[in-house]
Amino acid sequence: MKNVLIISTSPRKNGNTQTLCEQFEKGAKEQGHNVNLIRIMDKKIGFCRACGACIRNGGTCILKDDMAEIITLFQKADVVVFATPVYFYGVSAQMKTFIDRMYPIWQHLGSKEVYYIVAAGLGTDIIEKSLGDITGFVEHFEHYEIKGRLYAPNTMDAGKVKEQPVMEEAYNMGKNI
Ligand SMILES: Cc1cc2nc3c(=O)[nH]c(=O)nc-3n(C[C@H](O)[C@H](O)[C@H](O)COP(=O)(O)O)c2cc1C
Repeated sequence: MKNVLIISTSPRKNGNTQTLCEQFEKGAKEQGHNVNLIRIMDKKIGFCRACGACIRNGGTCILKDDMAEIITLFQKADVVVFATPVYFYGVSAQMKTFIDRMYPIWQHLGSKEVYYIVAAGLGTDIIEKSLGDITGFVEHFEHYEIKGRLYAPNTMDAGKVKEQPVMEEAYNMGKNI
């Protein structure tokens, strides 16, 4: 049994990213894994202030919000799923905010298996240009293996993925971790 943390970062509750995360979650839960699907929009998370307090004090953020509980889940996770829509050739603001708030533990990010789930209005070529922020974060892990990348291109409207094979692929990806 693995601890799985899914970071779902679209603002749209019924959007493509969240739908694929729920499929991944379903597959992983059916296999008996311990899964936490966190929808960042449902959490109270402020922007990193770059005050440096966390670096001086051994890793505690001055902001008292929901990020502390997410960092605990991250530290326990064997598997982390980064799920984002593409916004202007980048990740969502919610994903970037999550990443920046990991600064308190950036030198101790541990060893993780990593999956990407990405939805975009345009094509796969655009998705591939847009993931630098996640890659830059993952490359700071002490050890990592990117185990899967699930891309959902041509999904401008919420719910579009429901008509596509990516639904099944997300479920199978969760099932096969
Ligand atoms: C602010 C904003 C910027 C976007 N920028 C892009 C983009 O640069 N390239 C693209 O392919 N789609 C872009 N899109 C479309 C989204 O990627 C697409 O609607 C995606 O399905 C959203 O995921 P969601 O359904 O999980 O919210 C943008 C959408 C918004 C709201």
